Amino acid sequence: MKQISHLDDIPSTPGKFKMDKSPYNRLRWHSSLAKLTFWSFIFLALIFIFFFRSPSSSTPQSLSDPSRRYLQNYSWGGAAWEKRVRSSARIRSRNGMSVLVTGAAGFVGTHVSAALKRRGDGVLGLDNFNDYYDPSLKRARQALLERAGVFIVEGDINDEALLRKLFEVVAFTHVMHLAAQAGVRYAMENPSSYVHSNIAGLVSLLEVCKSANPQPAIVWASSSSVYGLNTKVPFSEKDRTDQPASLYAATKKAGEEIAHTYNHIYGLSLTGLRFFTVYGPWGRPDMAYFFFTRDILKGKSISIFEAANHGTVARDFTYIDDIVRGCLAALDTAEKSTGSGGKKKGPAQLRVYNLGNTSPVPVSDLVSILERLLKLKAKRNILRLPRNGDVQYTHANISLAQRELGYKPTTDLQSGLKKFVRWYLRFYADGKKSGV
Ligand SMILES: NC(=O)c1ccc[n+]([C@@H]2O[C@H](COP(=O)([O-])OP(=O)(O)OC[C@H]3O[C@@H](n4cnc5c(N)ncnc54)[C@H](O)[C@@H]3O)[C@@H](O)[C@H]2O)c1
Repeated sequence: MKQISHLDDIPSTPGKFKMDKSPYNRLRWHSSLAKLTFWSFIFLALIFIFFFRSPSSSTPQSLSDPSRRYLQNYSWGGAAWEKRVRSSARIRSRNGMSVLVTGAAGFVGTHVSAALKRRGDGVLGLDNFNDYYDPSLKRARQALLERAGVFIVEGDINDEALLRKLFEVVAFTHVMHLAAQAGVRYAMENPSSYVHSNIAGLVSLLEVCKSANPQPAIVWASSSSVYGLNTKVPFSEKDRTDQPASLYAATKKAGEEIAHTYNHIYGLSLTGLRFFTVYGPWGRPDMAYFFFTRDILKGKSISIFEAANHGTVARDFTYIDDIVRGCLAALDTAEKSTGSGGKKKGPAQLRVYNLGNTSPVPVSDLVSILERLLKLKAKRNILRLPRNGDVQYTHANISLAQRELGYKPTTDLQSGLKKFVRWYLRFYADGKKSGV
């Protein structure tokens, strides 16, 4: 009997394959062919699963892969959900409007939603409750709106299927678009969140609005930050806006250009509002007046920035009630969109307004007011303004909004901060339960 040795596997001529003729080896060859077929099948199956289960192929309307990283699965739909949506958006006054408010759990969104509801408009909120700042504050605002009869749908403005569903259930006459990634400095930490919400999200919303029938009129929040490095003050809508100092500002500027495009191509009525440093009760914890209050109360030192040569850093602080009046006036004066079936039928309104207070206050004066209201001395740490997005000075020229919207701010910083501090002390003293 022929001894089978490992030597038989060695080719007689190095570099050439030796034909294997033994039945044993043929059997081995068959079994490795079966193995190969088996593993090829597994490999192909994995590729198949990957392509057919990946989010970008299952939702073709998604805008880009990076943005999908932030799209969570929110549950929506069903008869009970639709009933809540309809009831929240129902108009309860003569000549009222039905408004979809995006970013309704946010600072400005909560105040605008409550004001619209109070005067009998139908209001439906939409918010993704992200954790850019303490989501429990957003939940508290949600509870406040719930009591006022405003339902906030939990979802992302990038979810076009959800937006289409909302327009299927309610023929919104207006959209108040406030959802955005706010904050100037955070853009250096998480730049893609700005692209996701302020650019991709805006396009997603406008895509749905453009094909809605009827198309709604849209009022949306731009920002004073579009004036960027401009030194001519006060800032007027006619001034250049091509020198943004932060990615946040650049995305708001991009939003203004995107608005122009959708107005031009699809006949959407679009009004952009450039807010100037909004403050007040239920405000944003990432803003200086808010965290200064928190840190002064805790006895922690606060950083106050100054520009080169001890230059003053100042802001045109605008009280939330004044901003709300400006938002409502913009909604009330918005003309109808002219398109239908996704096609433009005629020229539509395109507007941009500054909503500020027209009286810039140095940040060090803001701290002095807080010290008086809190009856505590701040531990001031004076630092040079870093080049991370903040500008030295903001000052609004509001004559256009005054003329066309009847906008007239009435709250000075002292009175506005008094209301903020009263709210802050009640809200945080009571374990976040009160504050209304
Ligand atoms: N507060 C200010 O001083 C100020 C100044 C200029 C411009 N703005 C603009 O005004 C608007 C409102 O600002 P705010 O101060 O109320 O901010 P905010 O952060 O309190 O509110 C924004 C809300 O939008 C939600 N949101 C963010 N991305 C979303 C997404 N992809 N889908 C759904 N919801 C999303 C957030 O959860 C948040 O509740 C923003 O567009 C902001 O850029 C604010």
